[in-house]
Amino acid sequence: MDKKFKRTLVTCALPYANGPVHIGHLAGVYVPADIYVRYLRLRGEEVLYVCGSDEHGVPITIKARQQGCTPQDIVDKYNGIIDESFKGLGINFDIYGRTSSKVHEANASGFFRKLYDEGKFITRESEQYYDPEAKTFLADRYIVGTCPKCGAEGAYGDQCEKCGSTLSPEELIDPRSKLSGAAPIKKKTTHWYLPLQDYEQWLREWILEGHKDGGLQPRAVTRDLDWGVPVPVEGAEGKVLYVWFDAPIGYISNTQELLPDDWEKWWKSSDTKLVHFIGKDNIVFHCIVFPSMLKAYGDGYILPENVPANEFLNLEGDKISTSRGWAVWAHEYLQDFPGKQDVLRYVLTANAPETKDNDFSWKDFQQRNNSELVAIFGNFVNRVVVLTHKYFDGKVPAAGELQDVDREVLAEIPVLRASLEKNIEEYHFREALKDAMSIARAGNKYISDTEPWKVAKEDMGRVATILNVSLQICADLAIAFEPFTPFACEKLRGMLGMDLKWEDLGRSDIMEAGHALSQAELLFAKIEDAEIGVQLAKLEKIRAERAAAEAAEAAKRVAPQKEQVTFDDFGKMDIRTATVLEAERVPKTDKLLKLTIDTGIDRRTIVSGIAEYYTPEEMVGKQICILANLAPRTIKGIESKGMILMARQGDGKMRFITPAETLSNGAEIG
Ligand code: MF3
Ligand code: ZN
Repeated sequence: MDKKFKRTLVTCALPYANGPVHIGHLAGVYVPADIYVRYLRLRGEEVLYVCGSDEHGVPITIKARQQGCTPQDIVDKYNGIIDESFKGLGINFDIYGRTSSKVHEANASGFFRKLYDEGKFITRESEQYYDPEAKTFLADRYIVGTCPKCGAEGAYGDQCEKCGSTLSPEELIDPRSKLSGAAPIKKKTTHWYLPLQDYEQWLREWILEGHKDGGLQPRAVTRDLDWGVPVPVEGAEGKVLYVWFDAPIGYISNTQELLPDDWEKWWKSSDTKLVHFIGKDNIVFHCIVFPSMLKAYGDGYILPENVPANEFLNLEGDKISTSRGWAVWAHEYLQDFPGKQDVLRYVLTANAPETKDNDFSWKDFQQRNNSELVAIFGNFVNRVVVLTHKYFDGKVPAAGELQDVDREVLAEIPVLRASLEKNIEEYHFREALKDAMSIARAGNKYISDTEPWKVAKEDMGRVATILNVSLQICADLAIAFEPFTPFACEKLRGMLGMDLKWEDLGRSDIMEAGHALSQAELLFAKIEDAEIGVQLAKLEKIRAERAAAEAAEAAKRVAPQKEQVTFDDFGKMDIRTATVLEAERVPKTDKLLKLTIDTGIDRRTIVSGIAEYYTPEEMVGKQICILANLAPRTIKGIESKGMILMARQGDGKMRFITPAETLSNGAEIG
């Protein structure tokens, strides 16, 4: 580790306790952080690993309202699920705290109060949207209406998801509160702001150096809400700290909760290296807002040395979305794949969205398990341990004289170790995992090339050397993979009967001759198509339900009224009843039917694009309505005289119009 530092404080973004964590969270934040922490621990570094639930904010109050319970019920439920999920995956924080705790409330409140007393805030009065029925101020997200750009229903006060336009609540046509449906009104409110612009110069020097943008604005750090840390100032009734003000203070509170007497060493010593692992949507808060808060506070708080932030992970080609249910949930994974925590950790690392958004697919998950973890890492270890039991009674055989092939494979390991270390220290976990896998590949190749099971027929001395070398590599794997696949490594250490340190990695004499191994156990098991099929079916079901819901929504969409016409305009249309006499498909088209109809005036041909909705058989004999005096058009070489009147629903579904009871053909409509 960097000479500057004596210890490392690793924080992970506090997940909102309004839903379980999914693979996107894991891949972006928690698995990388866990790799980093496990690595440092294995190196004997002093590390503190802090996380907890983020339990305030508007979405939690909304969810409570929807489910008819209290915000506390919501956060209790999800805090439990999330905490269990992390533990289940081997992500063992030193503390997993909660921002609804007493310690945090006192801490965040005190933090605010000190800044307040020192005049570090400004106040501003502004007009904000208010729901007079729900009696609550409304964030832009919670105002819905018709999009002024594309006419879509259900556009949000900040964005229309149909056409992608950025909106403000003012622009919405017929704005309504998402909570009560009431029309929002404007209401004056006063809040405290952190004048970020005052920190701009300092921030530039600290972090923005080289960036020409900027132009920071004051940031409101309070909200009108009844869920959160109350603003500890007279005249602030009904106001709480903004969730993004209180949550990062949660890192500090959680440290205090764990180490009431010793926490300052972690937060106020310049020889502590502070690293925040976050998702990319958290960057501004961790690189600008929170540092400015700490700077404003002073009192020796350190600032982050690094803020590793990943891109996003997609699932089977689609954006992961909690609200749409498009995700693989950690707690469900643990239920569906007991004992396979490492596989998820491995796949999420191998596919980590480090430099660009990346995709998780179940096929790839299966493939990586079967052809990498099972076929390379697991297979190598199993062969070595089984053969040692078979030929040497489970005791590490002494190596004889080494041959080139032995020396070469052993020489690869220190090189891979150096690369692995560099990659982890630079937060390139995907590359680091490749280095660890390269050790397994080297071992697997070595044993395939040297074929001890064949050599055993003539030269047991040589077999002893091969297995000795192979066992050293097994021990290397138990070390190198520990940050990535800790469950398998624990098993492997058990088989090898050894406790290992990072420093042992690449030593060619870790496993001493005569040392007894335990029985071989498989490190990884093959994942069958059927198991993947279950997961794919689960996702298929979510997709289908969503498509059905969208279609039902679309069907209800109504086109806006057209421009006015006069009675005379309408009078020019010759609309009348007719009966279909014959119907056939127009060859080489999917959509067209050629209809022969009796209009009461004549018999004529109309070509109509209704083949998508009706078969020729369904049309014959039906009474329909037509626009008779539409100028003739030739379609696919057939002259079409007139148009069949159809009603078209918002989702495109069409039905022909027929009189309420059969009339004679040629009856005028109007
Ligand atoms: N709850 C936030 C999110 O999930 C992260 C909060 S990080 C903290 O995006 F620093 F504020 F704690
Ligand atoms: Zn729109």
